[in-house]
Amino acid sequence: MGKPRVVLVVGTRPDAIKSAPVALALLRRSDACETLLVSTGQHREMLDQALGAFGLTPDRDLEIMRPGQSLAALSCAALEGLDRALAEMEPDYVMAQGDTTTTFIASLAAFYRRIPFGHIEAGLRTRDLLNPFPEEFNRRAAAIVASQHFAPTRWAKENLLAEGHDPARVLVTGNTGIDAVLMVAEREPQDWFPEHRGRVLLVTTHRRENWGEPQAAIARAVRRLAETHGDLLVAVAMHRNPIVRETIVPILRDAPRTVLMEPPEYAKFVKLMQRSSLILTDSGGVQEEAPAFGVPVLVLRETTERPEGVQAGTAKLVGTDERRVFEEASRLLDDPAAYAAMAQAVSPYGDGRASERTANAVLRFLGCDAPEVNEWEH
Ligand code: UD1
Ligand code: UDP
Repeated sequence: MGKPRVVLVVGTRPDAIKSAPVALALLRRSDACETLLVSTGQHREMLDQALGAFGLTPDRDLEIMRPGQSLAALSCAALEGLDRALAEMEPDYVMAQGDTTTTFIASLAAFYRRIPFGHIEAGLRTRDLLNPFPEEFNRRAAAIVASQHFAPTRWAKENLLAEGHDPARVLVTGNTGIDAVLMVAEREPQDWFPEHRGRVLLVTTHRRENWGEPQAAIARAVRRLAETHGDLLVAVAMHRNPIVRETIVPILRDAPRTVLMEPPEYAKFVKLMQRSSLILTDSGGVQEEAPAFGVPVLVLRETTERPEGVQAGTAKLVGTDERRVFEEASRLLDDPAAYAAMAQAVSPYGDGRASERTANAVLRFLGCDAPEVNEWEH
């Protein structure tokens, strides 16, 4: 009998960043298993850029991205393409991370073909099916199918146990995104804005539930912050989605000391987070990474499935009301005591060994020789 074959499915930027360390850990065990990377191509430039940061290229690319495509069109194309890929590749195990449409469809495609599915970053919940949309549904659906749940934190594990998932199949690993950030953080230095001596405010926003007026309110608040804080350079790392750009570009185009940037490549983006005094974001991954560098984060959402940063005091949920965002950010920028209270370097999301634990647990599931896996204690 040949070696078991594992197919890791990615499609979006966060899929690439959080799956790459697992792919690399499995590829290091080529003596025990064969690992293949399949991309749905849900994202294009942003995915290629993120995989490139880890020297990875997909073994198969379904190239399904179409400009501004609907969730239904995306899901249909991904399911059809993945089903064909699984039929041809005949894997013994399929895995994917998090809560994107690619991940949900990968779990469904594996289920239809009765192939065990491993869910990386399992168990995050807001308990509000519409927030974030459609991600809360995607991750709950992936959990129904999963044979192994790799929970980043104890809290995520508890969520899964509360839903009745078998404790023997749930493992606390830490978040593989922390492995990723540690892998690139020490790369060649990137001197962001060498001409600028003052503070940097970093902004990212892309969430579907923030499209339209909430994103316009965020942009207006950011503009006011630039206008009222003369030492501030505002760096807006723009998502590629044209819907997001249509809203924020007209409001921020001529704001003072404001740079509207194409999304920086991952290692450079990590340096940009480190250079920043404050981050305003609705991103899941950025919320997890910034605490590792002691950079306060204001989360531009009404709910979060990542309460650990809020509990640790490095992140605060502020929603999308213009006045609230402006006032919360101003308070941190103007009050050194309030700022110092949030600027603590803690890593509530992982210790950098999540991918090793995940890979070993997959290998043991497949009957391969691998060390016993202990949960991340935190
Ligand atoms: C997706 C995920 C979201 C994740 C986010 C990370 C779903 C439903 N949403 O949202 O969970 O937080 O990725 O960024 O899975 N586009 C490009 N080039 C790219 C990427 C996107 O042009 O490299 C444009 C296309 O017009 C595309 C649109 O952005 O149609 C939206 O992409 P899509 O993957 O549907 O949703 P995101 O908002 O990126
Ligand atoms: N990121 C990046 N360049 C950017 C913005 C984000 O490399 O311009 C990285 C970021 O460090 C994090 C991931 O992309 O690891 C988060 O992706 P995104 O915000 O698109 O998705 P989410 O995490 O919200 O699903």
